[in-house]
Amino acid sequence: QDDTFKKVISHAKEYGYVFQSSEIYDGLSAVYDYAQNGAELKKNIRDYWWRAMVQMNENIVGIDAAIFMHPTTWKASGHVDAFNDPLIDNKDSKKRYRADVLIEDYCAKIETKIEKEVKKAAKRFGEAFNKEEFITTNRRVLGYQKKINETLSRMAKSLENEDLADVKALIEELEIADPMTGSKNWTDVKQFNLMFGTKLGASADNAMDLYLRPETAQGIFVNFLNVQKTSRLKIPFGIAQTGKAFRNEIVARQFIFRMREFEQMEMQFFIKPGTQAEWYEHWKETRLKWHLSLGLGEDNYRFHDHEKLAHYADAAADIEFKFPFGFKELEGIHSRTDFDLSQHEKFSGKKLQYFDPEENKSYVPYVLETSIGLDRMFLAVFSNSLQEEALDNGTTRTVLKLPSVLAPVKAAVLPLVKKDGLPEIARKIVEDLKWDFNIIYDEKDAVGRRYRRQDANGTPFCITVDHDTLEDNTVTIRHRDTMEQERVKIEDLRDIIKKEVDV
Ligand code: GAP
Repeated sequence: QDDTFKKVISHAKEYGYVFQSSEIYDGLSAVYDYAQNGAELKKNIRDYWWRAMVQMNENIVGIDAAIFMHPTTWKASGHVDAFNDPLIDNKDSKKRYRADVLIEDYCAKIETKIEKEVKKAAKRFGEAFNKEEFITTNRRVLGYQKKINETLSRMAKSLENEDLADVKALIEELEIADPMTGSKNWTDVKQFNLMFGTKLGASADNAMDLYLRPETAQGIFVNFLNVQKTSRLKIPFGIAQTGKAFRNEIVARQFIFRMREFEQMEMQFFIKPGTQAEWYEHWKETRLKWHLSLGLGEDNYRFHDHEKLAHYADAAADIEFKFPFGFKELEGIHSRTDFDLSQHEKFSGKKLQYFDPEENKSYVPYVLETSIGLDRMFLAVFSNSLQEEALDNGTTRTVLKLPSVLAPVKAAVLPLVKKDGLPEIARKIVEDLKWDFNIIYDEKDAVGRRYRRQDANGTPFCITVDHDTLEDNTVTIRHRDTMEQERVKIEDLRDIIKKEVDV
């Protein structure tokens, strides 16, 4: 498992998909850059989502709200007070987060204690040296340090194994064994903000404290009435959006699975209060279908219904995907009630109500939300597509079997040799096809090696121009997954590719 995941990460780097951010400065933890192929794949996933959610639904429109929002937004949404409270729901990340905060706080406390002891002792020693006290102090300091080291290594192990029950047990043990107070009360460490702060304004005196948004959803809630009025949509209707979100994740591991800067694709569906149960089922089913349409394998998905719910939800489920490190959350479907809109009404003093012409009354709509991480979807697609295939001739090939609709490059055009006018014909084919698809030209190395390179790159088609092309205007088209080759007319290429890569 570990090996598979390592291969995924190194393949992503080697083939220009994902690089560590600021690598020449040794990188920045949990921050990544998308390279030439990664940016294309990411864009294609985003487009695939947008088409299904916005283009295909006449009652869903898309917006693009700013990352900066008025700071009161985050008070109203509950993020200032509750986002940090790791006890609000039972998600793995939150549990892990809680564990980390507890440990961090625990270590900080021990360190403060050591510092105090040392200072106290230094003062005493300045006054008069007391051998007994010196020994006791030393023992205590060493004891604290030992405790820190033990705590850290045990914690690291439990986190590595993703063994949350173990982490929980460890915390409980620590809570009881707290050498300083013996206290079990850790409630004061709960408030630890996951949001990144920044400042708006040039001078320090009158700058306004802002947060980078930790979810895109709030940009939709605050615009709900503006969009409804200008689009004249009637309930039920949805507003969709893709964009960056930022979370100061304490434990951010597993490559692009959990990042500090990431992209979300969210849709808020506004409905009549009381209809949430049916819409919840509808969107669970619809979103799962979207995933299945990519053909990554039905067995790789499962639902996980939440028993404990976030402060805003009356029902919630995750669509989990089988990543190389096991089943993990890929997308969330949340029945958010009227929590957000009511909160924004309260904090802004503005009415956020919909006049329902059928009911002849106004109300605050309920919201059904679908929320998926684009980077996480990228990892799902990429890790699932990377395969080592044993071939009949005893060799293996590395092939990235990306769904064709998502592949960064749709076809590579290869002249068999770099002479006899073949490169010119190949170039002409590229020029023709590039209006419709992302196409590349490749003339370096033997054709077999070029095929393998394109397999590893995820390119669904290779088009080879050879000497017969000069005679009859036909080329060889090779399919990535089957390695089958057929002879086709140059003029048919566009349709052949289109058939495969269009949705
Ligand atoms: N508006 C609801 C919301 O933000 P969430 O469960 O906190 O809900 C939704 O996040 C999705 O965003 C997750 O299912 C996951 O795919 C993605 N996501 C959340 N935190 C992430 C992180 N740190 N890195 C990458 N993706 C993340």
